[in-house]
Amino acid sequence: MAATMSMIFVLITQVMVAMVGFSYGQGLVPGVMIFGDSVVDTGNNNNLYTLVKANFPPYGRDFSNHNPTGRFCNGKLATDFTVENLGFTSYPPAYLTQEAQGKKLLHGANFASASSGYLDRTANLYQAVPLTQQLQYYKEYQSKVVGIAGKAKAAALFGGSIYILSAGSSDYVQNYYINPLLNGAYTPEQFSDLLVHSFNSFVENLYSLGARRIGVTSLPPMGCLPAAITLFGGGSNDCVARLNNDAVAFNNKINAASNAIKKKHSNLKLVVFDIYNPLLDLVKNPAKSGFFESRRACCGTGTIETSLLCNTGAPGTCTNATGYVFWDSFHPSEAANKVLSDALLIQGIDLIS
Ligand SMILES: *[C@@H]1O[C@H](CO)[C@@H](O)[C@H](O)[C@H]1NC(C)=O
Repeated sequence: MAATMSMIFVLITQVMVAMVGFSYGQGLVPGVMIFGDSVVDTGNNNNLYTLVKANFPPYGRDFSNHNPTGRFCNGKLATDFTVENLGFTSYPPAYLTQEAQGKKLLHGANFASASSGYLDRTANLYQAVPLTQQLQYYKEYQSKVVGIAGKAKAAALFGGSIYILSAGSSDYVQNYYINPLLNGAYTPEQFSDLLVHSFNSFVENLYSLGARRIGVTSLPPMGCLPAAITLFGGGSNDCVARLNNDAVAFNNKINAASNAIKKKHSNLKLVVFDIYNPLLDLVKNPAKSGFFESRRACCGTGTIETSLLCNTGAPGTCTNATGYVFWDSFHPSEAANKVLSDALLIQGIDLIS
């Protein structure tokens, strides 16, 4: 099974490399637009009035130039690998940074903000950029691109680009599970309906702004995040079943919602990327993929694990994150992100066809 998958993977990569040779742009698609949370944020929170940042060591220690860009990782995010797989030689600039200027805007941009979610209330709790505001920035971005490249090229960019959305984890882990105003008012079932409602309007809005290739990540196995085990595991070292069940239920709903949207818009390619199963597999069988640690994060471990505890002074930060599934208590390591990006590539083939 593993052998077959890796053969398919090699084949896809070869086809893609061949296709890159044919296209005159930089990549297989004209650009990549990224929305959502810390799983895909590449620095938009750096200059915000928020505590949720990752622009200091040891974040980025395995990134090029050991640069702490604001990525919540020791190195590359899964979407960084995806952008490379699509043939690009640079990453879409974080829209709220100095980097997002002029011609650098012409292959996409990144609007994601750590601690954002499907609910604007989640982002507001952490002074992050809510999803509706990310969409406003995207509209502003569109008019900038029209100004730089002209209407025709801009339309080709907006219609041909791949749009990636990663959201939901913060709504649960950093909001619902710890916020009595939410968990007292809504059952998990009702809460997931709220999120799916927001997902629907986000996708419809993107579509009306010209997006035709959208990939949305599913929820990860939230109960297996080191922080979740520590906070909600009741002293056990196992994944928290209740949280994983909520993730599965949400993922089923978002798949159904996507199918309904696709029926409405026959010219929309919409893929829900399953990251639940690939990440669960890494956690349950780390050795199979060359990992040795899937409970403890490399950075910021301790009795209470939060991303704020991963910093230069964090005691016990591992020296080599390659064997760790988790970099900090919420986020996969670069090595795990590589594995996840292989899954994204195989599942996302529809988006580039
Ligand atoms: C880090 O660990 C991996 C195995 O987990 C090993 O292959 C690699 O050589 C190590 N890197 C360094 C710099 O020690």
